[in-house]
This record gives sequence, C-alpha cells and structure tokens, in this order.
Amino acid sequence: MRYRTALITGASSGIGRSLAHKLAQQGTHVVVCARREAELAALVEAIRKAGGAADALVLDVADVQATRAAIQSADARLAGLDLVVANAGVGAPPSVPPWSWEALGAACQINFLGAAATLTAVLPQMLARGHGHLVGVSSLASFGALPQAAAYCAPKAGLSMLLDCLRLDLHGTGVAVTTIHVGFVRTAMLEHATHRLPQLMEIDAAVDAMLRRLPDRPAEINLPQPLAFATRFLARLPRWLREPLLRAVRPS
Ligand SMILES: NC(=O)c1ccc[n+]([C@@H]2O[C@H](COP(=O)([O-])OP(=O)(O)OC[C@H]3O[C@@H](n4cnc5c(N)ncnc54)[C@H](OP(=O)(O)O)[C@@H]3O)[C@@H](O)[C@H]2O)c1
Repeated sequence: MRYRTALITGASSGIGRSLAHKLAQQGTHVVVCARREAELAALVEAIRKAGGAADALVLDVADVQATRAAIQSADARLAGLDLVVANAGVGAPPSVPPWSWEALGAACQINFLGAAATLTAVLPQMLARGHGHLVGVSSLASFGALPQAAAYCAPKAGLSMLLDCLRLDLHGTGVAVTTIHVGFVRTAMLEHATHRLPQLMEIDAAVDAMLRRLPDRPAEINLPQPLAFATRFLARLPRWLREPLLRAVRPS
C-alpha cells in the first residue's frame, strides 16, 4: 500500500526528516512540519529535486490551536491526508532536573499535548472518509519509569496510552492507529547524552524498519526488538525488585 499524502511533524531533522524523504521517494506527497523554516525549505527543495512532492508547514506543536488549524488546512488543500505522523519531540534539557517544571512543562506540552493535537486534528475528516492512518512516535521509555527521566518517560507514556485508547475506539472505522516505540537512534536528540546507549540504531536503519511495517498498519512497531523485549520485561518485574534494580543503574 502506498500513501497518497502524509503529514509529518518534527520533519526538520532526524527520524522525521528521513521518514519524509523516504515516503516522498515512494510517491507520497509529504507535508513536512517543524519550527525551523530554513531546514524545512532545504528538505522540500531536496525532495522536489529528486522528483517528489512536498510542502513545508512551519509550526510549533506547543501551540496546539495553531497546529490543529494548520493541519486541517493541509488536509483540505490536499483533498485528504492518508497518514499523519506525530513525531515532533524533545528530550529534557540536561541543565535542569528532569522533575523540574522547566523540563516537565515543556516536554508535556510538546511530546504529549502537541502530539495529541496533531493526531486528532483531522480525525473527524478521516472518519468521514472511512480511511486514514495515525502514527505516534513514542519511546521504549514509555514502558515503565526510568531513573532521571521523568520529563521524558511521563509524556511518552501518556502518548502511548492515548494511541492505545484511540486504537480501541477507532477499530472497524477504517482509521488505523500505530504506536512506534523507539529505543536509541543516532539523532540530534542524543547529541549530549551522557548515559549508555545500548543497541543504538542509525537513522536509515530505524526508518527503513518503520516503513517496512507501516503499510500493514500494525498496532505497534518496537525498535530494536531485543531492547524492546528487555525494557518490557524490566517494566513488568515486581516493584520490590524493579525499583532497587533501577536505582542501582541510575545515570550519574
Ligand atoms: N533519537 C532517539 O533515540 C529517540 C528515541 C525514542 C524516541 N524518539 C522520538 O523520536 C522523535 C523524533 O526525534 P529525533 O530523534 O529524530 O530527534 P531530532 O532530530 O531532535 O528531531 C526532533 C524534531 O522535532 C521537532 N520539534 C521539536 N519541538 C518541536 C515543536 N515545539 N514544534 C514542532 N516541532 C518540534 C524538531 O524540529 P524544530 O526544532 O525545527 O522544531 C525536530 O524536527 C521524537 O518524538 C523523539 O522523542 C527518539
């Protein structure tokens, strides 16, 4: 299955940028969204040069009303979006504690509320058309609490829960919902990471794996599988065992 049209947030770099490029190569008209206008313009130019179709939409997903309005306009302009990918996300700034409001407030606004605004912006239109695909880029960090990661784990867990609820409610409507749980991918987000990055994936490999599975509209895509299995196993350990274990491996 090919998507005729797709909208991807967080497309100015990393996973979103690569996803947009590769979808455009498959013949999808992509709407690429992010805050950095110059990066989006360069991406659109590269896609068009390669014979693809792309438009840039400069938006800050933290502004949920503007985000919803912009996505609704794109849907109308392109006679329907087949695929909407809520990929925009931020890590917690290293300069403040992960439980501080500076870290938590921004991460919730972008990684949870921004994603929720994106995913639901044209859901009524998709339901009326009887087809569509909603995809959220969450994280293996959503499976359970991790040390020094409140600002990242909490909104990603919220996003994964939202996607699970949507999947239940949209069953049989023609609108599919996929959660992508990502481990570690070598993008700008990890540039300043000081902790270990087990099973680190390159962007191309991660995005190719997503695109191989996405057309089947699976409930979830977990990358990489072994780390996903280990993380889920850890999250399901009884609290009396899990919490001392996690405290013992907390990053400095
Ligand atoms: N890399 C990993 O190891 C990893 C692991 C698990 C999950 N993820 C998730 O994967 C997604 C993509 O991240 P990445 O690794 O590709 O990192 P990245 O290269 O830093 O990309 C993040 C993207 O999000 C956009 N963005 C951030 N805040 C935004 C806002 N307020 N409004 C609109 N766009 C915004 C950025 O664009 P602008 O700055 O131009 O707005 C950028 O395009 C994120 O949701 C992240 O949480 C990544």
